[in-house]
Amino acid sequence: MAKEVWKGGTVIYPVPVVMVSCGTMEGEKDIVTVAWTGTINTNPPMAYISLRPERHSYGIIKERGEFVINLTTKDLAKACDYCGVKSGRDVDKFKETGLTAYPASNVQAPIIYESPMNIECKVKNIVPLGSHDMFIADVVAVNVSDEYFDKSGKFHFNKSNPVCYSHGEYFTLGESLGTFGYSVRKKPLPKGKKSGSTPKKESHNTKPNSKNTKNKPKKSTSKAKRKQVR
Ligand SMILES: Cc1cc2nc3c(=O)[nH]c(=O)nc-3n(C[C@H](O)[C@H](O)[C@H](O)COP(=O)(O)O)c2cc1C
Repeated sequence: MAKEVWKGGTVIYPVPVVMVSCGTMEGEKDIVTVAWTGTINTNPPMAYISLRPERHSYGIIKERGEFVINLTTKDLAKACDYCGVKSGRDVDKFKETGLTAYPASNVQAPIIYESPMNIECKVKNIVPLGSHDMFIADVVAVNVSDEYFDKSGKFHFNKSNPVCYSHGEYFTLGESLGTFGYSVRKKPLPKGKKSGSTPKKESHNTKPNSKNTKNKPKKSTSKAKRKQVR
């Protein structure tokens, strides 16, 4: 097998593709599709988005210092693409996509109600990188849709049909290959026995401390307090 050498480029794929909502419930709001995003710290939980300064949403986020990362599913893929090709300068993307702006719990920016996970962020630092500015943010709250909890309270996000983005195309996930640490796990453990050999997993958000049931259009009073995914 031979290797071709390319010049440096943006080729780390697949990546998540998210809809970032910003602005306020009462005033101007916008949704921008972002693929340059990710988790950058576990404790405290931190995330980033990278935006070109020419985006309409850029000015709103810079001014307000807040945004919400709304995860995308198969059902939301078309709206997500739309929000990535139309500008809030020209259209009201909530109106055009039919997505619902819903109050967040810790920021003024609206969450997108139809997304199963809304990650509320407060900007900590803006790093100019060249084409894009990186907004480094604290994750101050996470809203999750209760339809993905099973009876024991375990959260099954993968059942929402998450979407990722790879070389210009949107995909849903394929088959599951194993769970964290499966490469070193010797054999299935007998019921009730704990493994000594499986690597320690960082906290996962499968068991809620409290459940937040947001029933549209009424806002729930209880707040979800949950652990973060690695
Ligand atoms: C799949 C996809 C991923 C994108 N990722 C980014 C990104 O990471 N950063 C960025 O600045 N723009 C990104 N864009 C482009 C913006 O979403 C697009 O320019 C949008 O129309 C800007 O909206 P606004 O002017 O309302 O802010 C992406 C677009 C698509 C379709």
